[in-house]
Amino acid sequence: MRRAASKASDTHNDQMFRLLRQLDSAPDASQRAMAEAIGVSLGRLNALLRDATAAGFVKIGDKDSADKRQRYSYALTTRGAGEKNRLIDQFLTRKFAEYDALYSELTGTTSGFNPLNYRTKLMENNLAPIPELFVSYDSAQKLKVEAGELVSWDLTPRQICDLELLMNGGFNPLKGFLSEADYNSVVDTMRTADGALWPMPITLDVNEKFAEELEVGQDIALRDQEGVILATMTVTDRWTPNKSHEAEKVFGADDSAHPAVNYLHNTAGNVYLGGPVTGIQQPVHYDFRARRDTPNELRAYFRKVGWRKVVAFQTRNPLHRAHQELTFRAAREAQANLLIHPVVGMTKPGDVDHFTRVRCYEAVLDKYPAATTSMSLLNLAMRMAGPREAVWHGLIRKNHGCTHFIVGRDHAGPGKNSAGEDFYGPYDAQDLFREHEAEMGIEMVDFKHMVWVDERAQYEAIDEIKDKDNVTILNISGTELRRRLQEGLEIPEWFSFPEVVAELRRTRPRNKQGFTVFFTGFSGSGKSTIANALMVKLMEMGGRPVTLLDGDIVRKNLSSELGFSKEHRDLNIRRIGYVASEITKNGGIAICAPIAPYATTRRAVREDVESFGAFVEVHVATSIEECERRDRKGLYKLAREGKIKEFTGISDPYDVPTDPELSVETENVDVDNCAHQVLLKLESMGLIAG
Ligand code: PPS
Repeated sequence: MRRAASKASDTHNDQMFRLLRQLDSAPDASQRAMAEAIGVSLGRLNALLRDATAAGFVKIGDKDSADKRQRYSYALTTRGAGEKNRLIDQFLTRKFAEYDALYSELTGTTSGFNPLNYRTKLMENNLAPIPELFVSYDSAQKLKVEAGELVSWDLTPRQICDLELLMNGGFNPLKGFLSEADYNSVVDTMRTADGALWPMPITLDVNEKFAEELEVGQDIALRDQEGVILATMTVTDRWTPNKSHEAEKVFGADDSAHPAVNYLHNTAGNVYLGGPVTGIQQPVHYDFRARRDTPNELRAYFRKVGWRKVVAFQTRNPLHRAHQELTFRAAREAQANLLIHPVVGMTKPGDVDHFTRVRCYEAVLDKYPAATTSMSLLNLAMRMAGPREAVWHGLIRKNHGCTHFIVGRDHAGPGKNSAGEDFYGPYDAQDLFREHEAEMGIEMVDFKHMVWVDERAQYEAIDEIKDKDNVTILNISGTELRRRLQEGLEIPEWFSFPEVVAELRRTRPRNKQGFTVFFTGFSGSGKSTIANALMVKLMEMGGRPVTLLDGDIVRKNLSSELGFSKEHRDLNIRRIGYVASEITKNGGIAICAPIAPYATTRRAVREDVESFGAFVEVHVATSIEECERRDRKGLYKLAREGKIKEFTGISDPYDVPTDPELSVETENVDVDNCAHQVLLKLESMGLIAG
């Protein structure tokens, strides 16, 4: 009885899957054509359509047709698209189980096709297409109209990167943003709840207000920053994560010196939403379009050129000679073709921007044999999670059709923690990768640190040099390279290619670049006075336009509707930061002089500005007692009387900067001298000519 019942439900599910697939691929077909394509009678088709409509998989609309039988049109809904994917999974699991049973009946042993692992098994051939989350073009047009009426979430830049890789299969086997069970399991065990290896939580973080207005089970539209609908998501889970636990487990420490931990605590929303995603369209990129490939496009390319083995090189830096040597060796060692696969989504704050980097990559590409080397850009948002990130990168590269992956020294390292020590050991990433290599289905090509051996005029791995004491070992660190570039010093040919150096030098020399001077301190500390004096001195020097964004001026113009709550102060400072970063980007000097009491907001502004130029934080360290004694505007008196609420230093906090570029005392020093101290600092940083 039970067998018969389950067989009937399998048949129903199969037919439902065929119906949903049919509606996806040919949404305008007639009922007769539909029934034929699915292989059922017209009566059965109608029963299926009734079921599908009742379950919310299909939406009925009117059609302009004189023919009575063609009166209605049937469109796949968001939920229907998700159900179609679920049914595919269910169907494949069942077929694998049947296959297993048959195999053991015939051979007396098991086939080894573990249903939990079937996706990995399916992909054993790195050239076969992998599943994407997109619906067909026709369905997408319809879904887009339907999604226009849904509640929508405007994705953050990081979420857009994540969504792109979810939809195009780069994050296979994920089918959407992680559910709570998957999230907990990924954080604690590096596996999704069904056991698939996945080291990085891919979560849709939102603010409380948005989350509260949602119901679990609701569909939402996911839009890019211009409002274009990229996907829909059925919200199956909503929860408040324990961020400190996530930081400890995923990044190894709850320390905000780690860029991803800082992001987690200070940028990401406090509530996570999870659920399957239905892809409508890819995010639009206007830059380097021809250089971007989806996993299936790369797989198709490898098929076309007959590449069976491909070793991927992940990078977020310009390629210098050491990288070239490393990639050549890796390709030789693995006897594979080479894919240079740089990240252009989000990298570590302060990295060389991707426009400059891609021009550098293009400049050195012809130093590689064209027949065996290719380059493709990956729109990944990196987390700098070292070992876990290496495993994640490997899985992503496997999805992109690669068979080997290079893991060097300190892969995806975030730098130093707040105690000044490295977050991870230099070869931790290689160790974790090795542990999971067999299961991942992509092989690691590991490398030790490469250095230049002057006497032999070649790069060698540091651990392979037997005569270390008798040879000259040369190396230029990233910091040293930046210094040489900024100061226009020589960069030796053994280190980089003239083409790359020329490209890096094309960015303005430091004393012509834009920058931001950001004063912070209590009301009445003297910020505005020093800022005004500095502005005049810089204008006197000439060469770059100078803009003063004084606290009071900004509050009159940019932020006139804002008060002094934490939320409003943050918004005010973020606006100042945005304008300052635009000025900096365009080669000007921005001088900001707000109170800016919160360290996290100041750090966020620093990150915004540092993508384009230097950020010089100046703490005007006048004590609160002195400010109150001066009480130039009479505000402290009012604050003490309780007539002004939330007054910084009296009834609202001020985080004293711990690491400003400069701290100035004003109590026994005149304004001119304070402004001069700032000028000297700018000069020592190479921002203005001496
Ligand atoms: S913040 O916190 O950075 O957004 O503040 P800011 O934009 O610099 O504005 C500070 C000026 O507003 C006046 N003012 C107050 N300051 C602090 N707390 C409260 N509650 C407040 N209410 C009004 C004050 O004159 C500040 O000007 P400055 O130039 O700093 O003295």
